[in-house]
Amino acid sequence: MKILANDGISQNGIAELEKSGFEVLTTTVAQEQLANYINEHKIDALLVRSATKVRKDLIDACPTLKLIGRGGVGMDNIDVDYAKSKNIHVINTPAASSESVAELVFAHLFGGARFLYDANRNMPLEGDSNFKGLKKSYSKGTELRGKTIGIFGFGNIGQATAKLAIGAGMKVLYSDPEVEQAEIELSFFDGQKVAFKLNNSSKTDLLKEADYISLHIPGQNNYVLGKAEFAQMKKGVGIVNAARGGVLDEVALIDALENGSVAFAGLDVYESEPKPEIKILMHSSISLTPHIGAATLEAQERIGLELAEQIIFLLK
Ligand SMILES: NC(=O)c1ccc[n+]([C@@H]2O[C@H](COP(=O)([O-])OP(=O)(O)OC[C@H]3O[C@@H](n4cnc5c(N)ncnc54)[C@H](O)[C@@H]3O)[C@@H](O)[C@H]2O)c1
Repeated sequence: MKILANDGISQNGIAELEKSGFEVLTTTVAQEQLANYINEHKIDALLVRSATKVRKDLIDACPTLKLIGRGGVGMDNIDVDYAKSKNIHVINTPAASSESVAELVFAHLFGGARFLYDANRNMPLEGDSNFKGLKKSYSKGTELRGKTIGIFGFGNIGQATAKLAIGAGMKVLYSDPEVEQAEIELSFFDGQKVAFKLNNSSKTDLLKEADYISLHIPGQNNYVLGKAEFAQMKKGVGIVNAARGGVLDEVALIDALENGSVAFAGLDVYESEPKPEIKILMHSSISLTPHIGAATLEAQERIGLELAEQIIFLLK
């Protein structure tokens, strides 16, 4: 059986599949040529990350497809229900990248609390001529320890973020209509484990009490953080969005940064991705990454292996 990993797959994933007799092709075929390629090579399974789109027209044009696999979480680039209605398996790797995304959130938070996003822009320009001036500009940083993080969405990534927060000495609040209570277990280097019980908070309480807010919810039809929500937040809050563009109103965010009610934001995802608004890109209080939350070597290896295991189970 033939598998096309159109957006790539880790070497250990390929090895696992080849051991079970699958042929894995890792050519990146352009979207317009994909249907032809799949039909010509009689591809049984198509693996994608977020770049390749698997819409109804592609599914209709490729009768050999038995499985569509998404290396990662969000399946917004796949017509999942339609594929399933055609008896095509649709799989993803829900938990493989949670820790990687959580660590990126903390990179934005630690960086934000100490102005790294701005210092890294200005040190190359003025570090030699205005060292003392820059030192003064960035001398009112804060510690995360002892502060409260409010997490919207307490699934895999929200809970991984909570573990890092607890490890950093923060108080954790979360808001998730589906998770009334949660037990978070932290594992340490020497085998010790410590469990923490947490309870759901209302959106209002979370907005009022959090010093930092991190979003970990799926894409929605409406903003979860819009003008009304920004108005309820603590003054000087830091916000991270590593969930999906469109869960946070970027215009309201810019207003809140300009009037000082939000101190900084860390963004990995954007409303107008892959062309984020210039106002967002140029803002001096935003820490920016180009949707790399899940993009660590460790996560890619776990994703490759998880996909391989599921494919072997479903197609062998
Ligand atoms: N930045 C990246 O590279 C990257 C990588 C992986 C996932 N993600 C995104 O992270 C998000 C979370 O992923 P996950 O694996 O934790 O998903 P998950 O399904 O495990 O958890 C999502 C949680 O959000 C809750 N939720 C839904 N709507 C809500 C709302 N309005 N308010 C509060 N809670 C709400 C759900 O009940 C669920 O518990 C997704 O949007 C995913 O696409 C981003």
